[in-house]
Amino acid sequence: MIPYKTALVVNRLSKQPIYIQLTNQFIDLIKHGKLTPKAKLPGSRTLSEMLGLHRKTIVACYEELTMQGWIVSLPQKGTFVNADLPVLKLKGLGETINSCDDRISGFEFEKNQRLTRNFPQSFHDDYLYVNDGIADSRLAPTKDVAMIYRNCVAKKSAIKHLSYGTTYGNVTLREVLVTYLNETRGLNISIDNIMITRGSQMGMFLASQLLFNKQDYVIIGETNYSSSDTTFEYAGAQLLRVKVDDHGLDMNNIELLCKRYKIKAVYTTSHHHHPTAVTLSAERRIQLLNLAKIHKFAIIEDDYDYDFHYNHAPILPLASHDENGHVIYVGSVCKTVAPVYRIGYLIASKDFVDECAKLRRFVDRQGDALLELTFAKFIKEGYLDRHIKKVLRVYKARRDLFCSLLKTELNDYVSFDIPKGGMATWITLNKKYSWDKVSEKALAQKLVITEWQRYDTANVKHNSIRMGFAAYNEQEIYEFVKRLKRAFMTLS
Ligand SMILES: Cc1ncc(COP(=O)(O)O)c(C=O)c1O
Repeated sequence: MIPYKTALVVNRLSKQPIYIQLTNQFIDLIKHGKLTPKAKLPGSRTLSEMLGLHRKTIVACYEELTMQGWIVSLPQKGTFVNADLPVLKLKGLGETINSCDDRISGFEFEKNQRLTRNFPQSFHDDYLYVNDGIADSRLAPTKDVAMIYRNCVAKKSAIKHLSYGTTYGNVTLREVLVTYLNETRGLNISIDNIMITRGSQMGMFLASQLLFNKQDYVIIGETNYSSSDTTFEYAGAQLLRVKVDDHGLDMNNIELLCKRYKIKAVYTTSHHHHPTAVTLSAERRIQLLNLAKIHKFAIIEDDYDYDFHYNHAPILPLASHDENGHVIYVGSVCKTVAPVYRIGYLIASKDFVDECAKLRRFVDRQGDALLELTFAKFIKEGYLDRHIKKVLRVYKARRDLFCSLLKTELNDYVSFDIPKGGMATWITLNKKYSWDKVSEKALAQKLVITEWQRYDTANVKHNSIRMGFAAYNEQEIYEFVKRLKRAFMTLS
């Protein structure tokens, strides 16, 4: 007989009821062959005495096991492990649960190396991190968002948003965004042209899955947002890279490629090219739209940081000049407000949006309707505009301080142009040094620089990386530059 007294261990401090603890332990004994089919269990009175538990607890445990089909009670005979239970096949003869490796699945699947990212290791709080250009979460209007959310939820009408709904996203937010984007970005869209996504990335993913078949060509910059490269390749596309200069993507290069290949799409971060932060000039925008019309390709316009411009009014997106249904425009509030609010949009011709909305069902059944409703109010009642105005002032001051300190303190090591917008500076390291070495020295100064390689996936060896400035306050910027300088000074 099983030594029940030692095999069944009760934890009285656990929140789990004792009869459930016993039930789970009995199931384990059965699954691992310690209690075999037809084995007789002790009577409830006997077991309660053995374990020092109330008999009712044992009865409840046996009832639960009976209900789940693990045991059966036969009148006048007793309680037995269900004779019809199939034997659970363990990995190999003699192997027990302890030898199972729960890191390795028991089935085959494809691991795609392209998806691997080396996210920075977490260090103690006093470390500073070089980032790609992200908002300062401390400035996020979480109280306003929470207040609006609470008001939305408190309304009786909120009930209908708790159920399954449309894959296009909340209709009120779509309506509000149509008005907002038409007014602020010169678009000319109706509700048929927009679906809500969980961020720009989801828009790019859906668009890529629909656009690309195996071996289709997509044109991207020689330097490019590496996650979009991965998204396109994952969908089966082949990347063709073109030069990027001070005016953005090189149109002559694109034209040449259009003559050699059947191009399916061109990807552009027109407002500020990711990663170099240059703006696609007005002339090139028109050229690109003309090329799209001639060669019938799609333009995926990722307008990830439209709201951040410090020297001039924002340049209207390509989508605002698109008269022939070529542009797939993606954007979100994730950079402007905070990445945690997964509210984005995909804007395109109605037929394309309809197909994206159909596909979305199989990735994500629907968005967060209550949060979408919250953001409809947040935008309509002017909270978003006020927030942008506030952070724009702060980020501009941070950009100015960051760039002036880099200039005065690190001129011998790095060169850069002051970015006209966005949240990051494109910094080129003196050819004498490598980011590899700098990052090693910086870590010793508690400054973490990781993943700089993703800025040069084409292996151009430009020796440049992006450094975000927006997420650091004044004191942190001084500290950041001080640590970077110390790191540089220890380079041999
Ligand atoms: C260029 C670019 N596009 C898209 C994204 C993804 O944005 P979202 O958070 O809206 O999905 C990012 C995020 O860093 C980005 O830098």
